[in-house]
This record gives sequence, structure tokens and C-alpha cells, in this order.
Amino acid sequence: MKLPESQAAVLEAASATEKRTVDQLAEATGLQPETVTGAVFELESDGLVDVDERTETSVSLTDEGEEYAEDGLPEVRLYGAALDAGADDSSVSMGKVIGRSDLDGPQVDIALSNYARKGYGSIESGEITADADADPKADAEANALAALVAGESVEDEDALDGLERRGLVERSESAVRSVTLTDEGITAMMEGVEAAETVGQLTPEMLTSGEWRDVEFAEYNVEADAERVDGGKVHILRQTANRVKDVLVGMGFREMEGPHADADFWINDCLFMPQDHPARTHWDRFALSNPTDIDDLPDDLVERVERAHREGVGEDGEGYHSPWSEEFAEAIALRGHTTSLSMRYLSGYAQGDLEPPQRFFSVEKVYRNDTLDPTHLLEFFQIEGWVMAEDLSVRDLMGTFEEFYEQFGITDLQYKPHYNPYTEPSFELFGTHPETGELIEVGNSGMFRPEVLEPLGVDCDVMAWGLSLERLLMLMYGFEDIRDVHGTLCDLELLRDTEVLH
Ligand code: PHE
Repeated sequence: MKLPESQAAVLEAASATEKRTVDQLAEATGLQPETVTGAVFELESDGLVDVDERTETSVSLTDEGEEYAEDGLPEVRLYGAALDAGADDSSVSMGKVIGRSDLDGPQVDIALSNYARKGYGSIESGEITADADADPKADAEANALAALVAGESVEDEDALDGLERRGLVERSESAVRSVTLTDEGITAMMEGVEAAETVGQLTPEMLTSGEWRDVEFAEYNVEADAERVDGGKVHILRQTANRVKDVLVGMGFREMEGPHADADFWINDCLFMPQDHPARTHWDRFALSNPTDIDDLPDDLVERVERAHREGVGEDGEGYHSPWSEEFAEAIALRGHTTSLSMRYLSGYAQGDLEPPQRFFSVEKVYRNDTLDPTHLLEFFQIEGWVMAEDLSVRDLMGTFEEFYEQFGITDLQYKPHYNPYTEPSFELFGTHPETGELIEVGNSGMFRPEVLEPLGVDCDVMAWGLSLERLLMLMYGFEDIRDVHGTLCDLELLRDTEVLH
């Protein structure tokens, strides 16, 4: 039988009676372990060897672990210094002991936090005792460190756990493959195996010389396991936010910027939200205690907004006939929507007066005191946007959404009439969840009312929206819980494995 060189060598080095690991075979053949692994898979698929795979945990010392293996654990050194300084059941001053020890800054803290835990003595109000019965030679963590340095294996799992928690060792799992010859392999060996010289890589020289015609190429095993490499990756939420920005810029929008904590004036009052609206009560907003107010709101705008609230706008306008105070409007809270930015821009406060047509957007975080559940968090990203132009209608708004969502593969939007104090008409947008088939609300939108636009000094139409970035992700990727991509419960596997959609 003719086999490529590496396979012939591995077959030769393998035994029918004794398992040999890839590392042993690499040693015996002088080949690289990766080459042996490749050859082993080939031989296995030809039925010439059996491969047995198990997972082995190996323990290695971190730099800090190496350091303590050499100098001793800080708590053991502290114990030595305490004894030296004459401590026993009666205490001596900590300063004296630390002075005697050669522990440097962070090591002192480490020593202190392990000293009492391990029974070396007690530490209280600047005084330290040393327990005469404590035996540093029996310190399980120190002994485990010493054994590891000596290349011995450590059975004491508790000590290893302790060292791992302290960041002194790292445990890693790897697959160990061992090989034995099958009956077929033995027969092949008895009949004689010859190494065919094979070429692993085609070179330009081979092509120009024509040598490639005469050589035998090694087969490439495209199914062999390769080591998994998890490189760094941009979080899918951030990736999608960036794509959203690109798409909106492509549609002619410019980006807005502004504060996360803002005066209620920009967050609510400009939006014709009455000051006694339930959403403005203290349990629904995150107020700031320092600073509490923005006291330099633009006077003329404040005056016009107040008038709109009290009297309404236009001939048939109706105000709320409810109390309105500038002080209330000055209070700072975390923004519950980024429509506060739209107000800053539409009023001209952010960038000066804007002439129609204009298009602006932001993809920014907002904060709401919601109850946590699979679709609600206390913070999320809102895709805010507006278009200012003459004669806009709901059809323009719908057309914009269709165009926008189509870029993300979402073509089945549905709309539902809705109420916002600041838009009329208003509607919510829904998409279908790709896994559950449920309708998911993805956004809220409408045409700003005259009560909003007139005080801002805008005398044409403005259509606007706030969409949820996380809900868009749900429709794109099919996950069901917002906590899969946000916060401490974030599913790392999902983030690693999710393919980037383009
Ligand atoms: N502010 C609304 C929300 O947070 C979204 C919206 C913005 C609706 C602009 C209409 C106009 O749900």
C-alpha cells in the first residue's frame, strides 16, 4: 500500500495494543503535532486506525502565580514577618510587620485578605497576631503552586479552585486523541506500507518548471477538526447600530447629538406633554439629584411652549388648562426617548434655524423605568428620526419605513393607529418575529402636531419616529429575549456565533 509520507510514518509509529497520543506519535515520527493530527484523521477515514478522544484539563501558572511560586504567597510571607516581629497570641503593630516584610503595595492587600481566612492569625485595628499552630508548610495553595512549578500534577481540586479564583493559575481544556491500529491497519503494515512522496503545497516554481505534472499531491482533509479561534468581534447590537446609521445616511439623513440627561423641557414640555401626564410622575422617570436643574433654557421658546400648553395653538386651539411651571420644566432626568434631541434641533437651539427640507436621525440610548421582562430593559437604543418638508403625509412616513426596513430584510411591516400627545395622526409599527411568528412592536411614529411645531418656529410639516434597535435585531436574528444581547445575562455564544448579515 502506498500512503503519503506522514501517514506512513504515523502508521508505523502506532501500535495495535497500546494507545499512543498525538504528542507521542509526533515525538516518535519527528512530525509536527498538527501534521500528525491531519494524518491520523486520514488514516481513520481509511479504516487503518481507531481514534479515541478525551478531554484533558491542563493547569498553567499565570505570571503572578510564577512570581509567588518563587517568592512565596504574600500571606505566608506576612506570617513569617509577623513571627519575626514577635507576634503570637499577643499582637504587634501592623506597620512594624509590613515594614519587615518585603511585600509591595498590592501584595499587602492580597496578604491581608488571605491571612485570617487561612488561619495564620487575626488582623484588627492596625494590629496583627500570629497563630503559633499555623503551618505554612501545610498551606494547600502554596503546595499546589510548588507542585505545578515542578511539573507535577495536582489532585487537590479545592486548592486549584482557590488559585484559579486568585488568578494565579489558569485551567484550560484540550482534546487528547490517542490512536491504535485496527485489524485493517495491521494487515496493511504486514503487507508493507510504502511512503509516497507527496507535495503539500503548490509553488510558483513547480508551475513554471512543469514539475507539478509529475508530483503526487497530498490530499487535503477539509473535514478535519481545527482548533476554534474566537477572535474579538464588534457586538451585534453595535454592528447593527452602525448599519442603521449607514442606511439612514444613505437615505439623506444627518446625525443628531445631545445629552443623555436633559431638562424635562426638551424631553416632555416641547412635546406638548402636559405636566400632570402620568408618564411624568416621579416613579416613571429617572431624576438626577446632582445637578437637579438646567436653569438657562431659551426664554422665548419657554414662553411659547408655556402658551401652547395653557392656551393651545391656532384659532380653535385648546390648551390643557392645567398648571404649568418653568421650574418643573427645568428639572433634569435621563431621557426616556431621544425625541428630546429632535426638539433641540427643530427649535434651532442645537444648530441654528433649519430651512426645509431637512432630515435628521440618531441611534442613541434611552432610559425608562420599566418592569424587566424578555422585551423590556431599563435602557435600550432608540432609532430616532424626522423629516421636515412641505406637504408630508402618512404615506411618506410609511414609504420611508418600507425603504428603511427593507435594507434589513424586513418587508412585512404592519401599522396600527396610536395616540401620542405630540403627534396626530400617530401609528405604531409591527414586524413578524421570524421564530415565533408573533407580531412584535418595533416603533412608534406620527406627524408632529401644530402645538409642538408652532412654538418651535417650524411652519411646515414634520413626520417623526422612534424605533427600537433591539426589536429590529430580534426580527433580524430571531432571538426572543432582549437580555440575550444586553446586560450581564448576555448570551456570549449567541454573540460569537451570530453571523453578520449584510
Ligand atoms: N417618542 C416616541 C417613543 O419613544 C417615538 C416617537 C418619536 C413617536 C417621534 C412619534 C414621533 O415611543
